[in-house]
Amino acid sequence: MTTIRISSLDDISAAAHQFIENMGENTIFAFYGKMGAGKTTFIKAVCEELGVTDSVNSPTFAIVNEYRSDTTGELIYHFDFYRIKRLEEVYDMGYEDYFYSGALCFIEWPELVEEVLPEDTVKVTIEEETDGRRTLTF
Ligand SMILES: Nc1ncnc2c1ncn2[C@@H]1O[C@H](COP(=O)(O)OP(=O)(O)OP(=O)(O)O)[C@@H](O)[C@H]1O
Ligand SMILES: [Mg+2]
Repeated sequence: MTTIRISSLDDISAAAHQFIENMGENTIFAFYGKMGAGKTTFIKAVCEELGVTDSVNSPTFAIVNEYRSDTTGELIYHFDFYRIKRLEEVYDMGYEDYFYSGALCFIEWPELVEEVLPEDTVKVTIEEETDGRRTLTF
């Protein structure tokens, strides 16, 4: 198990870098953490570290946002399943085309789509400590 501590937003690029070094060959990462824990912020930092320069926005209104790394040319998918009410919506959006594409997938609110997460999904937990620092474990 890997633990990454993020003391402040100043530290986030270094933390993202450390995360990337520990990703191995895995492509699906599910980020578990309370509302406001820092899932979007961390995923954005990881995408930036991977060379995404076009706006890395929170997929607030879309279930999935697609980014492209300028350094590798590879696609990265960022999901936010917070608004999913029925699993049917996930089938309708064609989740399989993303999850089994071989592209990196970062998922917020995976607990809402637990049934369809691939077996080799890496579970990442983000927790906010009382002093505001974030701890990531996976
Ligand atoms: N590592 C961090 N250090 C300090 N502040 C942070 C950190 N990560 C996130 N924040 C702050 O916490 C707030 C919530 O962050 P964020 O939107 O990333 O949370 P989230 O887990 O994606 O929430 P949601 O469940 O609503 O999607 C933001 O104001 C952000 O700036
Ligand atoms: Mg978020």
